[in-house]
Amino acid sequence: MCDEKAVMQRVKLAKGSENSQEAAKYYLEAAQMLVELSEKTPEKDGEFMDMANKLYLKGKKLKEKKTILKTTKKSAKITFDSIGGLHELKEEIRFKIIEPFKSPELFEYYGKSIGGGILMYGPPGCGKSLVAKATANEANMAFFHVKSSDLKSKFVGETEKNIAELFEKARENQPAIIFFDEFESIGGERSEAAAHEKNFVAQLLTEMDGMDSKDQKILLLAATNEPWSVDSALRREGRFGKTLFVPQPDFEARSQIFELEMAKRPTEEINFMKLAEMTKGFSGADIKSICEHATNIPLKESLVTKKKRKISMKDMNTAVKETDSIVKQWYAKAKRQVEMKHMGEFFPDLIQRAREVEPILL
Ligand SMILES: Nc1ncnc2c1ncn2[C@@H]1O[C@H](COP(=O)(O)OP(=O)(O)OP(=O)(O)O)[C@@H](O)[C@H]1O
Ligand SMILES: [Mg+2]
Repeated sequence: MCDEKAVMQRVKLAKGSENSQEAAKYYLEAAQMLVELSEKTPEKDGEFMDMANKLYLKGKKLKEKKTILKTTKKSAKITFDSIGGLHELKEEIRFKIIEPFKSPELFEYYGKSIGGGILMYGPPGCGKSLVAKATANEANMAFFHVKSSDLKSKFVGETEKNIAELFEKARENQPAIIFFDEFESIGGERSEAAAHEKNFVAQLLTEMDGMDSKDQKILLLAATNEPWSVDSALRREGRFGKTLFVPQPDFEARSQIFELEMAKRPTEEINFMKLAEMTKGFSGADIKSICEHATNIPLKESLVTKKKRKISMKDMNTAVKETDSIVKQWYAKAKRQVEMKHMGEFFPDLIQRAREVEPILL
């Protein structure tokens, strides 16, 4: 049920709540209902949205823990060594993010400015988020992992506030890295965005331009599957001046990912080279799912037979045959988009890789 009465009931419940989290929940529910109501009753749109905004802010204030701003706990395991391949990307991050903060005087001596950002792009499941997590562990800095869609709010002005708050928090904790995952959802092309969404990019630009000053030690990492959707102003030098392609793993990396994944499971002798050869064009996530699938075969048997059997190469072969890669659809779409928008010069690696994989994948 979604009418004014229901909204008032939520507000009443919120006011009568004994704990703040419960009250926050009711306020946010009421705000959500008002948004729906405003969509249904255009003549009262302004009034409902105003009220929704107020209730939303109230609810949000009560939520002591702001989920979007939590600093990720540094996971003990993931470092650059646990990532197969991607040598160039790791080197670039080392040079641009990790080393400048370890040896600032050396970088200053050579007249290098510290800061700016790196935008990673590429097919899904190929290690962008993984690299960001590893960076947090390698660089001893505060790390803000932001799913861009979490910054977004339906309420006018609220997303900009979230962005400003995030940078504020990072400045308080500097040196810090902010990692924007799914970057296209807030850094999208302004010409294609809804009116109020254009301000997100403007706000990002304002924050980023303020980062030049010497006393600010904030670095930005972003990841996207849709680089062609990212606003071009964000891709300029000093902002996300460096765009790095994160391709699907090569032969060596595939074999390494198989090895890393299977190391924690009971196996007979596995021919990792052979597996790498069979999985040309597969993503890291595809390989992970092959390993899961292969593991399930003897596990399910054991549940019936009550006897333990190790994972065999035959299980691995079966799993490869039954797993389809998600990478090929991505390349087809990416190539179409980049060509349609005449952006080939910005993403040369993508076009080249798409050509390389076409005969294998399509
Ligand atoms: N190079 C790699 N080395 C080791 N594991 C990898 C590698 N690439 C991908 N993986 C595995 O695949 C999983 C998915 O990777 P990740 O989440 O980093 O992909 P992504 O590029 O961020 O994808 P998306 O664009 O969908 O967010 C990882 O958790 C990891 O297990
Ligand atoms: Mg990711």
